Amino acid sequence: MASQLQLKVLIDQKDIAEGVDRLACEIERDYQGKQPLLLGVLKGSFVFMADLIRRLDLPLELEFIRLSSYGSARESGGKVRLVQGLRTPVRGRDVLVIEDIVDSGVTTSFLLDYLRKKRPASLKLCTLTHKPSRCRVSVPIDYLGFTVPNKFIVGYGIDCDEKFRNLPDIYAIED
Ligand code: IMP
Ligand code: MG
Repeated sequence: MASQLQLKVLIDQKDIAEGVDRLACEIERDYQGKQPLLLGVLKGSFVFMADLIRRLDLPLELEFIRLSSYGSARESGGKVRLVQGLRTPVRGRDVLVIEDIVDSGVTTSFLLDYLRKKRPASLKLCTLTHKPSRCRVSVPIDYLGFTVPNKFIVGYGIDCDEKFRNLPDIYAIED
């Protein structure tokens, strides 16, 4: 039960805000003169994306896609499903994927392959967090917020069984 889980702050609000500022600076610098399409992966990236875009002084556009690879368990099933596909053409666009977490890399790698086939002008990845200890498929990360240890994390949009997305800090679940 979610209410019985022990949570420990891993990245607090101040550090998150600094990380988002840093990422926004890097993205703004690299996308000068472009009109990138930021593609958020639902649901986990929505809080991060909301903060990030308000720090970007670029003529950007937004789109969302929804993938599913986890059921209620905390382990990836390794099978990725497209729950809500693209509604905006990405051919010829500068697409920047916004993820909450790259864990095994299976989900993000599936998404990048799917998008690459649609022939965007460029395709890059920005992720708030990365758990390198669990890597099964290597994924090229262009913009990285934080490297996290091999613990299940929640908060700032990231869930465990749909809970904890509203927490303003990022927590690790202690077993
Ligand atoms: P993957 O293992 O890289 O394919 O991760 C797939 C998805 O699992 C991520 O996009 C998250 O939605 C979810 N996930 C992976 N690790 C965590 C975690 O520590 N907390 C919450 N969700 C996670
Ligand atoms: Mg995700």
